[in-house]
Amino acid sequence: MVDTKKFTAIVSKLSGITISGDNLGLCELFALKRLEAYEYIRVEEIRAFISSLYASLGEPLVLKNQLFCFTVGLMSRIVLRNKYLTRDYSKHATSTDQFEEFRVMINDFMKLDGSFYIGDWIPWLDFLDLQGYVRKMKALEKKFDHLFDFVYHEHKANREADKNLEPRDMVGLLLELMDLLVGGIETTSSTLEWAMSELIKHPRVMEKATEELDKVIGRERWVEEKDIPQLHYIEAIMKETLRKHPASAMIPPHAAVEDCNVAGYQIKKGSVVLINIWSMGRDPTLWDAPEEFCPERFLEGKLGNIDVKGQSFELIPFGSGRRMCPGYSLALTMLMCGLANMLHGFN
Ligand code: HEM
Repeated sequence: MVDTKKFTAIVSKLSGITISGDNLGLCELFALKRLEAYEYIRVEEIRAFISSLYASLGEPLVLKNQLFCFTVGLMSRIVLRNKYLTRDYSKHATSTDQFEEFRVMINDFMKLDGSFYIGDWIPWLDFLDLQGYVRKMKALEKKFDHLFDFVYHEHKANREADKNLEPRDMVGLLLELMDLLVGGIETTSSTLEWAMSELIKHPRVMEKATEELDKVIGRERWVEEKDIPQLHYIEAIMKETLRKHPASAMIPPHAAVEDCNVAGYQIKKGSVVLINIWSMGRDPTLWDAPEEFCPERFLEGKLGNIDVKGQSFELIPFGSGRRMCPGYSLALTMLMCGLANMLHGFN
């Protein structure tokens, strides 16, 4: 166990993730009431996404790219109340180039976020920045600042135009919102991509899912958020995807706030604790045949009651406790609705 380190600190600053403390302020933003209010945005964006897939019928397409555009547009509208970062950016100033740059920024961020930085563990090598990660992270920070400036000025202009908008600490609020944006895009699109990848490899699972959709929804309409509680098999697919392919292998670093003992290990106050949820999801002492993709495991027996909301410690793709992902409820809604509509709309 080591103290909080430099690279980790830069990553944390960029992602808005603090090493210790809690995210209750962010949780407030995600109160159910607010989430429900955005359902119309999710409906519009999911339909636009499915229509764009229909428009490409017959042509090969890279689903990963389509999913990324979908989550960027959706998150941008929900979090920033505007479609700043979309390809079909007709009304606003983002060009295709800017969109591509944003895609590269998010990719770079996710890569660096999951990297093992030597200087964190062998401090006397730190100043050499042997892997060049600190240099890359600082360059990325500048790019995010640039984007933040753009969003800030746009919001400022809107506020000046509409005097009824609530006066609040806009810089602080926007910084929080940018964290939410970065935290929610790649995680959601890569999870959807993994789900589709597993379904393509497992036609039996795909068939059972479409059977459920035909039975619960019928052929005449799209899947709506209110249908989610009835879609048990789709939910099991989502859990199985999050077990096998968590959005990031390691939960961001946490620090022990006091001396404690976990499973016989003494952990000193201030130690940085890294939790590897990827290996927990594949641990044969916790899961039967962990390498297999088998949603049924969540429908029967003792695993039937397992959830992904931080209560079942063998499956914590969103973390657990006070630092848990504040966007988990929104994420689950987007994942379930996005996946269900893709399956419902296409063979
Ligand atoms: C599949 C989707 C997602 C997964 C798997 C995921 C997973 C996680 C995990 C594991 C953490 C760290 C929790 C911890 O430290 O214990 C986290 C933090 C965070 N997530 Fe998510 N997340 C997802 C979607 C979202 C969405 C949609 C949003 C925003 C709307 C979001 C915003 C955040 C933020 C802001 C943090 C940092 C919280 C803090 O500062 O402590 N995430 N997420």
